[in-house]
Parts: sequence; C-alpha cells; structure tokens
Amino acid sequence: MSMPENNIQFILDDRIISLDFKDGGAIRPDTNLLGYLRISGHSSVKEGCGEGDCGACTVVIAEAVHGELSYKAINACLVFLPMIHGCQVITTENLSFRQNGKLQLHPVQQALVDHHGSQCGYCTPGIVMSLFALWKNHSRITPALVKERLAGNLCRCTGYQPIIDAIVDQSGKARHDHFNDTSEKITKDLISIQQKSGDIVISTSGLLYLKPASLREALKLRKKYPEATMLSGATDIAVMVNKRKQEISAYLDISSLMDLKFIIKGDKYISLGSCVSIHEMGEGIKDDFPALFDMIGLFGSHQIRNLATPGGNIASASPIGDLIPVLMAYGCELELQNQERKRTMPLEHFIKGYHSTEMEEDELITALILPYPNKNKMIRSYKVSKRKDVDISTVSSAFLLSLDKSDMIQEAKLFFGGMAATTIRAVETEDYLMGKKWTEELAVNASGIIRTEFEPISDARSAAESRKIMAGNLLIRFWEDTEK
Ligand SMILES: Cc1cc2nc3c(=O)[nH]c(=O)nc-3n(C[C@H](O)[C@H](O)[C@H](O)COP(=O)(O)OP(=O)(O)OC[C@H]3O[C@@H](n4cnc5c(N)ncnc54)[C@H](O)[C@@H]3O)c2cc1C
Ligand code: FES
Ligand code: FES
Repeated sequence: MSMPENNIQFILDDRIISLDFKDGGAIRPDTNLLGYLRISGHSSVKEGCGEGDCGACTVVIAEAVHGELSYKAINACLVFLPMIHGCQVITTENLSFRQNGKLQLHPVQQALVDHHGSQCGYCTPGIVMSLFALWKNHSRITPALVKERLAGNLCRCTGYQPIIDAIVDQSGKARHDHFNDTSEKITKDLISIQQKSGDIVISTSGLLYLKPASLREALKLRKKYPEATMLSGATDIAVMVNKRKQEISAYLDISSLMDLKFIIKGDKYISLGSCVSIHEMGEGIKDDFPALFDMIGLFGSHQIRNLATPGGNIASASPIGDLIPVLMAYGCELELQNQERKRTMPLEHFIKGYHSTEMEEDELITALILPYPNKNKMIRSYKVSKRKDVDISTVSSAFLLSLDKSDMIQEAKLFFGGMAATTIRAVETEDYLMGKKWTEELAVNASGIIRTEFEPISDARSAAESRKIMAGNLLIRFWEDTEK
C-alpha cells in the first residue's frame, strides 16, 4: 500500500493522525508544527520568538531507529508539518497519565514540583520537554549535562537552580514511565507508516511540497524543479518563512533521507552524510576532531543541533556559519551529486562569495569527507559572541599549524568568520609565520598583522575596529592553548 497524495501520517496523543492537506485549508504544508499543535488542543506548547531562540515551543519527537524509539527535543516553530511524517510527537499534555482514576504526574514533572522547579506557564512546558528528552536518553545526569540541554530554554527570571537540582536528583534512579508501556506498539505503528510511505507529494493552495523517500528520487526532483527550495533541518528556511515572511511556492524536503544520514569511519577519513544532525555529527567525530567538537558545543542549542545539518550550514555559505572555518582547517572535502555524476571538491573551493557556492542548480551536497589529522598538526577553533549559547558569531576562527621537531612552522592556515563577506584566510599572516619558530613573541607580532589584514563591517554585533582586535587576540589565545 502506498501513501495517498496530499497526506502525511504521524502519532500524536497515542493515535495515528492522518492529515490531508486541502486547497484553501487552514493547515498548509508550510504550517509549522507549533501552529498545528496550538490549534489541535495542545496549548501548553507556547510561541515566544518563532525563530528557535527561546525554547517555549520545545516538544519531543520519537522516531523508530533500528527497531527502538529514539527521543529528541526540538523547536516546534522550526518544523514544517511534513517533516514529522512517520514520527511520534510528544507534548506536556502527554506526560501525565491516569492511574486508578487519578491523574499522576510524569516522574520529570513530579521531580520539578518536589524541588520547587516549576516556573512561569510560558517557559515551564518547554523546559519540561527538554528535561523529559534528557531523562529518556541518559541514566547518569550531571549539572553540566543539564545546563547544556537547557541552554535553548530561556527563562527571564533567575530560577534555573531548582530545575537543575530536580533533574540531577533523578540521576541513576530506576526509569519507568507510561511511554515504556506503549513503546512496542508505537514503534510498530511508526515502522508501518514508514514502510507504506513512498515519495510524498503535496500540492495544495498554490504550494508544492515534495518529500522524496530516496536519494535517487531527490536528484530526479532536483533536476525537474531546480526552483524548489531545498531543506534539510529547516533551521534557516523556517526562520525565513516565519519571521521574514518569505513566500516560497515549492519545497524539496530532504530531511528524512536515510541515504544521507550515515557516519562511516574509514582508515584515512570519516565520511558524514550531509543530512545527519549536527548533534549526531558531534557524537560521530568527537574522538578524532576535537576542534570541530568544541565548535559544535557552541552551535545554537541542543534543540537546534537536533534539527540543523552540516549540509545546510555549508550550503548557506554564511560568513558567520560556524562549521565552515573549522571544517576548512581540517581539510574537509565535499561530495556533490546530481542525476548523472558525483564529484568532490575541497570545501575551501566550494564557497564562492556571500551566500554563494559552486553547487550547480541540479546538485545537492551528499557527504562531507574529513581526513584524520596528522599528529603534528595543531588545530583549534574559537567563537566570540555576545552570549555563550544560542548566539551568532561576532568573530570566529579556526587555526592550523604544523611544526617540525624544532618547533619551526611548516604549515599555517588561519581561517576567520565574521571578518569579510565569506570565511576568509589571513594569508599575509600565514606567510609571515612560515618557517619561523612558534613562540609567544611571534604570535603577538602575527596578531598585529591580522588586525591590519581585513576590512570587516560594523554592525549590531560589533564595531569593525573591535572585530580586528578580537581576530588578532584569538591568535594569541591559540598560542596560549598550544604552548608546550
Ligand atoms: C536559533 C538558531 C540558532 C542558530 N545557531 C547557529 C550557530 O550557532 N552557528 C551557525 O553556524 N548557525 C546557526 N544557526 C543557523 C542554522 O542552524 C545553520 O545554518 C544550520 O546548519 C542550517 O542547517 P539546516 O539543515 O537547518 O538548513 P536548512 O534550513 O534546511 O537549509 C539551509 C540552506 O541549505 C540548503 N541545503 C540544505 N541541505 C542541503 C544539502 N544537503 N545540499 C545542498 N543544499 C542544502 C537549503 O536549500 C538552504 O538553502 C542557528 C539558527 C537558529 C534558528
Ligand atoms: S517559539 Fe521560541 S523557540 Fe520556538
Ligand atoms: S520561568 Fe518564565 S520567565 Fe522564568
């Protein structure tokens, strides 16, 4: 059996919802999950910013992965409805349950009550959902982990401590909830939805939404509809639609393409499918690419990292895209594919200009290839932003130096974000460093050259002059971090 046209299916409130998109209907394929939940009786899910910053709309998505449910917290405001096809959606309405006729709180909710951690009605539901996902995924819960997972749930009062205490108190305790009792059935239902799903085609209200089930079909559609806006995590695209009111008439959604969700560790390099989430990417590379892992730790929030993909970050070619400088420092190659051929090119050659790349209109990025770095290469990444979490870079950088046995510099690559219209290399400074001994004096002198090498702009985040000072100072920080 295959899917009917203009239809998606998902599980909500323990029931399979079969949603038909109708011409002129209130629910469109570009309606976000937040909007849908609020009009379908899930008013605990709040709208704050509508752009992934506040966490008030946090819900949990469960997917059947290798026959088991995997739970992740996401921002419902950034998810178009067809993206949740084949998933279970969980909101705070689903956490409490009835036992012997009495309403019982979920253990996470009860812990918050016991520790006086429940706060205003606007922030608490999102906080509860972030903690619920954490509770489902981790038996050992440390304060550091809780802080990392709550960075995307902004509270404007000062009350995080009781929340942290409440969930840390659950660490190591036996876990059972009513979701365990239903997980077998939910998994079966989700697998059955997936099995009968083919390519999803929704054409209503002057809008075309295509969600292919295979890479082969995605490439075919890419050729047929080059004007369709492609999306993977939609963390950039949904903001354009929600906030900038951009009218998009055709979408090509590759968010669920399993063909592009691989992480393969080879002998010489690691190969990452372009549609893995940034969180999954972090888990895959953390042992071998520490500077990339550090940058991922400063990327958006946990909810954003669960949605956003490296393919989207690179294709956006933003001068403040955080993965680009560090991936360049690691010598990342991209694999691009269209219907006829596959080609690879260094990421450094891929970015042409401000939000402009070498990608042809019938291509998509299929993979990132990261060679394991030699032991003699020192690679670090840095991000300067007004706030540590969920903030855009003012200046970012990634540095690579190779030294010989006498500490003489054999190779120098200094990449900067936020200093020009694209990620840019400090080539004059690199030339100055080559063949010299890596000392504090050299780093200080080189930082002076960096300050004169770029002409950044002044904007809301920083004056141009401050950007130059920051860029230079980052090299001194690099010296301090690599000093033997
Ligand atoms: C609250 C918030 C915080 C953020 N924080 C950060 C941050 O700290 N650092 C940072 O760098 N960015 C940040 N971003 C921006 C965004 O999350 C990233 O750029 C993200 O990596 C985009 O990936 P995506 O899969 O969501 O892209 P999408 O929105 O799906 O797509 C972005 C662009 O890439 C194209 N695209 C997507 N996948 C592919 C592919 N496989 N091949 C070719 N083209 C493709 C799309 O067509 C589109 O043009 C943040 C965004 C939000 C909303
Ligand atoms: S409404 Fe603020 S993150 Fe979604
Ligand atoms: S809990 Fe809502 S502002 Fe602090």
